[in-house]
Amino acid sequence: MEINKIKNNIIDLKNRNKDGEKKFFYIATYGCQMNEEDSEKLAGMLKNIGYESTLIRDEASVIIFNTCCVRENAELKVHGNLGALKKLKRENPNLIIAVCGCMMQQKGVPEEIAKKYPHVDIIFGTHNAYKFPEYLSRVQQQGIQVREIMDKETEIVEGLPIERMSSTKGFVTIMYGCNNFCTYCIVPYVRGRERSRKPEDIENEIKDLVSKGYKEITLLGQNVNSYGKGLENEITFAQLLRRVDKIEGIERIRFMTSHPKDISDEVIYAIRDCEKLCEQIHLPVQSGSDRILKEMNRHYGRDYYLDLIKKIRKELPNASISTDIIIGFPGETEEDFQDTLSLVNEVQYDVAFTYIYSRRKYTPADRMENQIPDDVKHDRFNRLIEAVNRGCAKNNKEYEEKTVEVLVEGVSAKDSEKLMGRTRTGKLVNFYGNNDSIGKLVNVKITKANSFSLIGEQI
Ligand code: SAH
Ligand code: SF4
Ligand code: F3S
Repeated sequence: MEINKIKNNIIDLKNRNKDGEKKFFYIATYGCQMNEEDSEKLAGMLKNIGYESTLIRDEASVIIFNTCCVRENAELKVHGNLGALKKLKRENPNLIIAVCGCMMQQKGVPEEIAKKYPHVDIIFGTHNAYKFPEYLSRVQQQGIQVREIMDKETEIVEGLPIERMSSTKGFVTIMYGCNNFCTYCIVPYVRGRERSRKPEDIENEIKDLVSKGYKEITLLGQNVNSYGKGLENEITFAQLLRRVDKIEGIERIRFMTSHPKDISDEVIYAIRDCEKLCEQIHLPVQSGSDRILKEMNRHYGRDYYLDLIKKIRKELPNASISTDIIIGFPGETEEDFQDTLSLVNEVQYDVAFTYIYSRRKYTPADRMENQIPDDVKHDRFNRLIEAVNRGCAKNNKEYEEKTVEVLVEGVSAKDSEKLMGRTRTGKLVNFYGNNDSIGKLVNVKITKANSFSLIGEQI
């Protein structure tokens, strides 16, 4: 029923774009791959109704801000950008400005945005992005501000058009939402409860990507290890991995994110046994202190996590392991912080995304006493980064003089004489190679390792 409505709107808008004049859309995406994927779907819907994508904001007739609220600084960026659009709208009253994404799912925020930025035409949330063509049509016909947020997640809408950013790597969401309620995190409040896509739908999307020449896919979810729960025919994440590995034509499969409490031995064995599954695991630890982990509601302790790392290293000796770490959680003492530092030194991560704790309204941690002062947070953050960088540099050194398989993504952003791509373990490689290698797998000899990337030559 909803889908038919969308199709009607698409036809309606197509007719109105018949005059041949080009219309562009510009989407600014903040936050994680969940938002990236939603933006790709918004782009797909807009392409379907005759719009073209542009990277020049000021030539667009539709501008969308897909917002994130995981930390305060993500929100501040959106406010700054929305304010700046006021002038553009005054100069071009036909411009349509839309704001969507996680920030809009927070209590009171859509109302605040509508009031503070009356030049915004459309406001919607994470559960109703598929209705965007309808909202656009409503604004174009009636010229009034459209604001619609759904508090609850809907059934998964399959079959939406999708316009992907990359032509070599495709992201495939396997499940939406999160049930974990880590005490610092807003995601479960803005993305709803966990729901999994049917394995057939996932397989079909991947087969479609293969037919378009994609070589690599990343399976996405806030907690992929609980994939399959609640489906009519229950299936585990490890079983899904083995099914997906059998799809012909795909060369590499990755996935994220794994919650340490839920990753099963079977998932580790699947990576070990399946040819296309890459030796890369993102395993956010958040803290090295048992006391803080408990306060964070993470449901595992330091020893459990370190044992897990040992198991992974035993089964997958070449695997790269990455993580997320928060410092400055309420009540974190210097001793707790030292526990995090020593864990980082022990694991020696390939990549670690480090965050300063940011208070999020309505989360339990926001109500906790002993919030940590900013200067203490910044001091710990700097010390943490030093430890993380030392580990990354050591890991990268191991690659020097070795030959690795690289999926070539394009010309290097830093040096147009070089190409760039990634190893199976996710390492960024800038290298001298043949331009016709773009989109292909090639062998590269690593000549030098930097802290965050590798340099090499195609052989
Ligand atoms: N589902 C994923 C990650 C979601 S958000 C997981 O469970 O790992 C990505 C990262 O943002 C988190 O891993 C956490 O490290 C960080 N984060 C979440 N809320 C935060 C907050 N309030 N302050 C600082 N960092 C936060
Ligand atoms: Fe947030 Fe925790 Fe869910 Fe990750 S697992 S999205 S950190 S609540
Ligand atoms: Fe941000 Fe939403 Fe992702 S809050 S991190 S965009 S799920």
